[in-house]
Amino acid sequence: MLVLGIETTCDETAAAVVARDREGRGEIRSNVVRSQTLEHAAYGGVVPEIAARAHVEVLDRIIAQAMDEAGVGFDALDGVAAAAGPGLIGGLIVGLTTAKALAIVLERPLVAVNHLEAHALTARLTDAVAFPYCVFLASGGHTQIVAALDVGHYVRIGTTVDDAIGEAFDKTAKLLGLRYPGGPEVEREARRGNAARFELPRPMLGRPEPNFSLSGLKTALRLEALKIAPLADQDVSDLCAGFQQAVVDVIADRVLTGLRAFRERFGAPTALVVAGGVAANQAVREALDRATARVSTNLVVPPPTLCTDNGAMIAWAGAERIARKQTHTLAVAPRARWPLEELNEAVPAVAAVTT
Ligand code: KG4
Ligand code: ZN
Repeated sequence: MLVLGIETTCDETAAAVVARDREGRGEIRSNVVRSQTLEHAAYGGVVPEIAARAHVEVLDRIIAQAMDEAGVGFDALDGVAAAAGPGLIGGLIVGLTTAKALAIVLERPLVAVNHLEAHALTARLTDAVAFPYCVFLASGGHTQIVAALDVGHYVRIGTTVDDAIGEAFDKTAKLLGLRYPGGPEVEREARRGNAARFELPRPMLGRPEPNFSLSGLKTALRLEALKIAPLADQDVSDLCAGFQQAVVDVIADRVLTGLRAFRERFGAPTALVVAGGVAANQAVREALDRATARVSTNLVVPPPTLCTDNGAMIAWAGAERIARKQTHTLAVAPRARWPLEELNEAVPAVAAVTT
């Protein structure tokens, strides 16, 4: 089965062709991502209107390139999938409408993919991970620990009560005068910094429910920065190192608590799967490595290009749905908010989902 996947939820315009065989094994035939980082850089964050316009301008060419690199014609496709939420509504409309047009013309099934489900299912494409498994999703917009019990069946075990982890990296970078997106910048600075110089809090550490809170850490960092302003280069590096170490400590503790909660409710998971842009952080990866080793749990971290937003994960989620005959009608609508757990009740084949 060959599926085209389209991703336009935030600031990446992406399209990919993915194959799925009868045994459920996946293969990426093409995976084209165009990031809008430059368009948004001057604003220190994603501007929804600029994002939507940029998607309109390039999506047809990105799709053509994905088809070209896969070496197949549109006739060869068995379905078309697009991320239909959660995300910025302008971009979602662009991607889903394009997928609908293709589905009509090609007379192929359409799948409106939940972007979070696509992140969660990526490890089945890369590593054929079996259910049930635990997902730690940490991106610019989301921070969740999720039990993936089956395709379309997820239980959220923990989440953030305020900022997402990637968002905290971005805000820290902005505060310290570093570029957007902040994660890679903070990580680079942290390598030259002394993590012990500032005493920063570890919010939620040791709490029984596996939730996160980042805003207190952000405030503490701002106060430390104000105390020593104007900041020299070494100050910035030390603040980044302190911030990253605090986040890493919190992640290790919260994920272990999440894994314990998973075991109590669903038995042993086959793996801890990591998804989202924050998984590109080397210190985060090493901490998760140590934490999962302590509780003898497999750690699966897909390559960075598949952890951040991409079309292959959307195509794959579409293929998993089509294999289960769970496709959408043209009445399906994009949703800015679309919690994973709402998928549990949905009957996708007849879902005329409204926002
Ligand atoms: O998954 P993603 O590409 O997009 C969504 O937000 O959906 O994640 C982007 C987020 C940004 O907040 C970015 O700062 C963060 O992931 N990120 C990182 C690193 N690379 C990207 N955070 C920490 N360390 C990194 N190396
Ligand atoms: Zn994402």
